[in-house]
Amino acid sequence: MPTPLIVANWKMHKTVSEAVDLVQEMLPDLRVIPEIQVAVAPPFVALSAVGVVLREAGLFLAAQNMFWEQEGAYTGEISPVMLRDLGCRFVILGHSERRQYFGEGDGEVGRKVHSALQEGLVPILCVGETLGEREYGKTFEVIERQMRGGFEDIVLDSGEELVIAYEPVWAIGTGKTSSPEAAQEVHGFIRGLLGNVLGEKVSEKIRIIYGGSVKPDNVDALMAMKDINGALVGGASLDVDSFSRIVNFGRD
Ligand code: 13P
Repeated sequence: MPTPLIVANWKMHKTVSEAVDLVQEMLPDLRVIPEIQVAVAPPFVALSAVGVVLREAGLFLAAQNMFWEQEGAYTGEISPVMLRDLGCRFVILGHSERRQYFGEGDGEVGRKVHSALQEGLVPILCVGETLGEREYGKTFEVIERQMRGGFEDIVLDSGEELVIAYEPVWAIGTGKTSSPEAAQEVHGFIRGLLGNVLGEKVSEKIRIIYGGSVKPDNVDALMAMKDINGALVGGASLDVDSFSRIVNFGRD
């Protein structure tokens, strides 16, 4: 079983000082759980300051996006080299909000995944269907396309170098979560795809985490599923009590 991974995606919330206050408030609850990995993805501008606090506590820093080049004339972009330098371990790539609002396609996401791996970052590749795609029975087709686009020709030494986040778009920020069984069905499908491309041994070690309205009251049932190895948490990760309960999944 891979080590469970819980990632807080703070999206475009919190100034630098607010982010530092929030992570400091969370620390006492987060550092007492040695058997899971916890990562926090604050906005770019807060990576440095939040990273200092996390590092001291043995927790991981994650970025929410990056460009694929190492450096160059790309005004406004952030490179994987810069993220490594700040101590980032993970980078979220292809989040549905990037695909929806910033026009990112599978090709761009794939280039970013390659570049992240090359620079020693662990990409968290996000995939997920819209409500319309689900209703038309296209869920598996969409996931397969996003998976193939996201990591074509990738060679991994170990499954720990890659994380897949299944985030059904209709469940993000809506309070509607996928049922644990429906999520497991897609996670199992993703595991199968990974097995076909990378071999069963590597695929078993890859964390496939679930995102989309993960809350204290649904995390236990989701995490009890065989192929759900963690959670990518948006709204509930901005609240100290909620996030603390989520990282303590399965306990009373
Ligand atoms: P919510 O937990 O707010 O639904 O957001 C999920 C998400 O998009 C995490 O990346």
